[in-house]
Amino acid sequence: MYKLLFDLVFKKMDPEKAHHLAFFWIRLAASVPGLRQLVQLVLAPRDPALRTTALGLDLPGPFGLGAGFDKNGIGIDGLAMLGFDFVEIGTVTGEPQPGNPAPRLFRLVEDRALINRMGFNNQGSARVAARLAGRARTTSTPVVGVNIGKTKVVEEADATEDYLKSTRRLAPHADYLVVNVSSPNTPGLRNLQAVQILGPLLWDVRKAADEVTAHHVPLLVKIAPDLADEDIDEIADMALTLGLDGIIATNTTIGREGLRTSASRVEEIGMGGLSGAPLKARSLEVLQRLRARTEGRLAIVSVGGIETAEDAWQRILHGADLVQGYSAFIYEGPFWMRRVHRGLSARLRASGHASIADAVGTAKAS
Ligand SMILES: Cc1cc2nc3c(=O)[nH]c(=O)nc-3n(C[C@H](O)[C@H](O)[C@H](O)COP(=O)(O)O)c2cc1C
Repeated sequence: MYKLLFDLVFKKMDPEKAHHLAFFWIRLAASVPGLRQLVQLVLAPRDPALRTTALGLDLPGPFGLGAGFDKNGIGIDGLAMLGFDFVEIGTVTGEPQPGNPAPRLFRLVEDRALINRMGFNNQGSARVAARLAGRARTTSTPVVGVNIGKTKVVEEADATEDYLKSTRRLAPHADYLVVNVSSPNTPGLRNLQAVQILGPLLWDVRKAADEVTAHHVPLLVKIAPDLADEDIDEIADMALTLGLDGIIATNTTIGREGLRTSASRVEEIGMGGLSGAPLKARSLEVLQRLRARTEGRLAIVSVGGIETAEDAWQRILHGADLVQGYSAFIYEGPFWMRRVHRGLSARLRASGHASIADAVGTAKAS
């Protein structure tokens, strides 16, 4: 059914317009009393066996939506209604900014992939913080991660202050906070992944978050798949030394290897981060490397190329406490989360593990 809708409607539309249209429908459905509960009943049936704890948070399951879909936190309830166990909003920058000129989002249908150079289009930390502050929080509100990045016009030397501005505004409203230093679409951003720069940045963000909150807000860093293996090890070591709560791996790649889409089309699209199926192998590799280095001493959120329940399950077995998806949601549609959850339930039961947390990192033994 969704395949038909995708082929007949979305595929013919500009990808960014299709995103706005679909997201509008999601928010509309979530705002109609009764309809939200009905949709939730169908798309997000909760298997209690999938309940898990990670980052000190209780979650209905391990499967969340990656950053970038809801940049401004305008549709959290609608996305949870569709079955995501948690929603990461952002990237939010210190100041509002329009992002790069359109077109800036492209589908590579044969590759089940996307290329984007959105460039952190968002309403800025003040506005997003005000929106989050206005949300009623109850035990049934979804877990919300807030992903922060650098405002484009801010010089690299002043990056810390920009992150701190966002931290002070957003940490009080975040269930967890992510420092994003891995988007390829903000010039110079990925230089912040160098541990000599990243360490002090994360230290300052940690302090700023503690100053504005009475409780410990889990802090994570999101890294690129294009890092050399030694750099991944260095970041893992640094995260342990700093007492960081977790690492999100990975963001999109600047690589273009092994694509089915014609080279001329790929060249025509130009710069941007590639996501979806072609990212699967590298994202799994980065996860395995992080797990080997950290041995369960911090949480790992695995993202990149997850399309099926089996993909998600393999990430868990290889050490992911939580998983996220984005690109496959575009190709698979609103029943995707249900399929992944059902598949995870079946795999968990067949594995004999008592819980998802129990299965994390057991790949060698299974
Ligand atoms: C259109 C688009 C926009 C994105 N924007 C962000 C962003 O603002 N911040 C971020 O940390 N990641 C962003 N991402 C990366 C995703 O969160 C995710 O890390 C990446 O797409 C790999 O997962 P996937 O293969 O399941 O899509 C974006 C991805 C896409 C496709």
